Amino acid sequence: MIKLDADALGRRAETMHKELARISAEPDRLVRLFLTPEHRRAADLVARWMGEAGLQVSEDAIGNVRGRMGEGPRLLLGSHLDSVIDAGIYDGPLGVIAPILAIDAFKRAGVSPPSGIEVIAVGDEEASRFPTTLSTSAALVGAFEQTTLALQDAAGVTYAEALRAYGKDPAKIATAAIPPGAAAVYLEVHIEQGPVLESKNQALGVVTAIVGQTRLAVTLTGIAGHAGTVPMKLRHDALAGAAEIVLMVERMAFTTDGMVATVGSLTVYPGAVNIIPGKVRFTLDLRTASDEQRQATVREFDRQARAIAARRGLVIEIATTHGIATVPCDPRLQDNLAAAIEAVGGKAIRLASGAGHDGMMFAKICPIVMMFVRCKGGVSHNPAEYASPRDMGLAVAALVRFIEGFRP
Ligand code: HGY
Ligand code: MN
Ligand code: MN
Repeated sequence: MIKLDADALGRRAETMHKELARISAEPDRLVRLFLTPEHRRAADLVARWMGEAGLQVSEDAIGNVRGRMGEGPRLLLGSHLDSVIDAGIYDGPLGVIAPILAIDAFKRAGVSPPSGIEVIAVGDEEASRFPTTLSTSAALVGAFEQTTLALQDAAGVTYAEALRAYGKDPAKIATAAIPPGAAAVYLEVHIEQGPVLESKNQALGVVTAIVGQTRLAVTLTGIAGHAGTVPMKLRHDALAGAAEIVLMVERMAFTTDGMVATVGSLTVYPGAVNIIPGKVRFTLDLRTASDEQRQATVREFDRQARAIAARRGLVIEIATTHGIATVPCDPRLQDNLAAAIEAVGGKAIRLASGAGHDGMMFAKICPIVMMFVRCKGGVSHNPAEYASPRDMGLAVAALVRFIEGFRP
């Protein structure tokens, strides 16, 4: 086993996170979206780090940065570079920086990892630019959907146009796919984004499953009108209808064990103080560990939302923008990761992930496992997100021990 200084690794991890976090589209909050100049700068920085760690670096046809080492079936290690709007600095980058530091530790010890390695920095996990998620890991597993190319961002730029502007050819996306049989296992290091590890006073955890999700885009169309002259009983107020639907789905989630429902974005048209809202668009994110429960909830939501719209004389359109089943993590890999965590003095807590991750895509081509790192207050998707250098150093050390013991 190579000698490790977990605290020094943690300090390096912190410095790298802070350097990467300075790459943002806005000066006062972290915004780093897929296929933007910020993505380009972040990809170049990560490519440099990968090269310094001794990895053979390349960039594929959809913008993923990839660092290879060794031969044979690969241990895939990665996460995403894109961020949510006003993000924390660890969600995504930790899963790229930790593997780079782990591979660098092998290099400094003059030891080669016992298997093929590929470190991957993917570009689109957060769905923060285009209404899609996991599209770049989908390309890696040969599951990219061509319809994605027509999706537009808030400025009306299509995914395909953005790819070309980034210097990529959409016709070549298929070349990003990892060859069949080349992927042995995928392991992602990620902050927990929840309170469990902190509540158990543990730094690291082993993920048992990644919870499935359904995301809907709902449009309600009523009749815009003069706020001062239209009597209440003659109104077809799209926002009042949306509000009733939002409270309906919140009540549904409250009364369904393990279900979470979030209306994260809502836009009112035309959006003026003295005009009755004529149209409202909002998103719904529904998650629960049971796929059957989630699908039943989607059906019930659809039924009740249409009834509310009908009663209010509104036209409703409900589109599914994302649907993915709960993905289990491989039990043997969970045990191996737990042993690696214990080898560095941790007590491996096992827990499910309510957050989605790129591992859900990699599960299509190989067994997956995730290592969670405690984050302060369980806060994430928020600039207050924080993982301590000590915990990050332990995560890198545990990752080194996992790699040392890994055989494809
Ligand atoms: O939404 C999610 O679960 C992930 O953080 N993108
Ligand atoms: Mn996230
Ligand atoms: Mn993430």
